[in-house]
Amino acid sequence: MADKDRRDWSEKDLKKHIIEARKYLWRESTIERISFWLGLKNGITAVDVGCGLGYLGWTFWPHFGDGSTYIGLDCSIKLLREAQDTSSEWSEGGRAFFANCSIYSIPLPDECADWVMCQTLLMHLEFPEDAMNEMIRITKPGGVIMCMEPDNISSSLNMVSNSVYSPSIKEKLEQFKMQLIWAEGRKKLGRGDWGIGTSVPKMMADLGLMNIDALINDSPHFVHPPYETEVQKYSIEKMPEHIKDRDENTRKLLWKEFRECFLAGGGSLTTFYRYKKNSEEKQKQYEPIILDQLEKKTYYHGISGSHFFCIRGFKPEG
Ligand SMILES: C[S@@+](CC[C@H](N)C(=O)[O-])C[C@H]1O[C@@H](n2cnc3c(N)ncnc32)[C@H](O)[C@@H]1O
Repeated sequence: MADKDRRDWSEKDLKKHIIEARKYLWRESTIERISFWLGLKNGITAVDVGCGLGYLGWTFWPHFGDGSTYIGLDCSIKLLREAQDTSSEWSEGGRAFFANCSIYSIPLPDECADWVMCQTLLMHLEFPEDAMNEMIRITKPGGVIMCMEPDNISSSLNMVSNSVYSPSIKEKLEQFKMQLIWAEGRKKLGRGDWGIGTSVPKMMADLGLMNIDALINDSPHFVHPPYETEVQKYSIEKMPEHIKDRDENTRKLLWKEFRECFLAGGGSLTTFYRYKKNSEEKQKQYEPIILDQLEKKTYYHGISGSHFFCIRGFKPEG
């Protein structure tokens, strides 16, 4: 089994995303709370599926690493190579291995892991239930499965004002409608469910897991001068790069993908072209002002973010 549309996460922009968006993703205090809630302890076997560069490994290591074995699995050989090379920097006291495979066919025996985890993997898969089944297969009875998955559709509900532009109610509603249709098409085309976080608990229950519970990420984003926190400083520093990096070709590819999904979701070509024209006009008008305000350190935007869940379920004993 393979997804119809598998992206190469070692490619420049996607890899940049899994590095930059991870820098301040979960607060250390939340990771500590999650570790307690999962019942993590030292001397365990942990498997991270769709591990990318090993983010979950190094993030949770202080809470389970001593005497433990961490196995990172991914379909990207390039990311795995880098993950393996850098793992010596964080895996002191235990062992970190990486292996190339598809999540649909994990080359590990049944019931070998105490803790099986993923982050932003299920949302990209055509067959998330099959992936979850494989995760359950390799978990020991009494072991725990953790999925960190978002409902990214929720982010278009909190389309916020910034120092350059305040969207009207009509614009907010249109944005939400466009995103819903796009997300529906994305799912239909087998490119994954953008809002999957909301349905993971049911998926876990249907597949026999117990004591299911969920927490939510407590790090919303905002920036406001004088940008006092580390995360604000980082966002402000990266913004000009993101705006300037979006060259003509990247923009074309993003619109192509949006159009394909929007049409598959039941949207019309006329609506798509009207929306694209309006968005491009706004971009042209506002981007230079944003860049100028960033330079003068006067730019701000309100609190935004999607619902990003951490969901756990235990495999029944015996
Ligand atoms: C969004 S990235 C998340 C990486 C990592 N979990 C993190 O949070 O930084 C998704 C990862 O899943 C991997 N992936 C996607 N589909 C896969 C599949 N069918 N089998 C194995 N890995 C897959 C990608 O190569 C990529 O590294």
